[in-house]
Amino acid sequence: MMEIYQAKDYSDLSRKAANIISAQIIMKRNCVLGLATGSTPLGVYRQLIDWYQKGDLDFSDIRSVNLDEYKGISPEDPNSYSAFMKSNLFDHVNIDQSNTYIPNGLEEDSERECHRYNQIIHHLGGIDLQLLGIGQNGHIGFNEPGASFEKETHCVQLTEDTIQANSRFFSSAEKVPKYAYSTGIKNIMQSRRILLIASGENKSEALYQSLFGPVLPSVPASILQLHNHVTVVADEAALSRIRLEKLI
Ligand code: GLP
Repeated sequence: MMEIYQAKDYSDLSRKAANIISAQIIMKRNCVLGLATGSTPLGVYRQLIDWYQKGDLDFSDIRSVNLDEYKGISPEDPNSYSAFMKSNLFDHVNIDQSNTYIPNGLEEDSERECHRYNQIIHHLGGIDLQLLGIGQNGHIGFNEPGASFEKETHCVQLTEDTIQANSRFFSSAEKVPKYAYSTGIKNIMQSRRILLIASGENKSEALYQSLFGPVLPSVPASILQLHNHVTVVADEAALSRIRLEKLI
């Protein structure tokens, strides 16, 4: 089942997506959230923090697993996804940070790190709700075009497109790590529910191909068409390639 909700704009998208996450937290106070980085989830996290501060949300029993982390970067590096999660969510809510998991970018042994991270996901009993952004080339997590649909956590060589897109956070494109650890499409597909968020015209083609194009490894997010509970929340610009009658 795939539901597509059109949001008026970015703040409407953020509130709608945060509502879905907060419903999940309320219904299962110790749920496992799959969390994402990037610009798109920032508004969602701000909204969740706001509801927490107002006393409406309790994160004390929540466990979380993040999708990905750059390889070769320390968790203290401000560009690490670990630092991102702390400054944009974890430091502002009552989540027990020992229950938050992100791949260890400093582990050089890829095989060991990927195995360790997969074990964590399995020991937690899988992911209840996986939040996803989408790359301009249709990537989810760091599962780049051409990635196998079969993979669990693995080490990825980032594409030039992704390095360019992510260079806005670094002083130059050369500073963007070339490799990352990412949960695989298989981990994502095993999540019980998926919440995909997309904002802006630059995501419209990737979103259209992912939701209505053929299911192909060259468009990693297209596999979501085969998941049994995907909720898409996107703004008008991101949905501009999709005809309105396909929307709720
Ligand atoms: C990165 C992340 C993805 C994210 C994507 C889009 O590559 N690894 O998880 O979805 O960027 O990011 P943004 O939301 O900033 O467009």
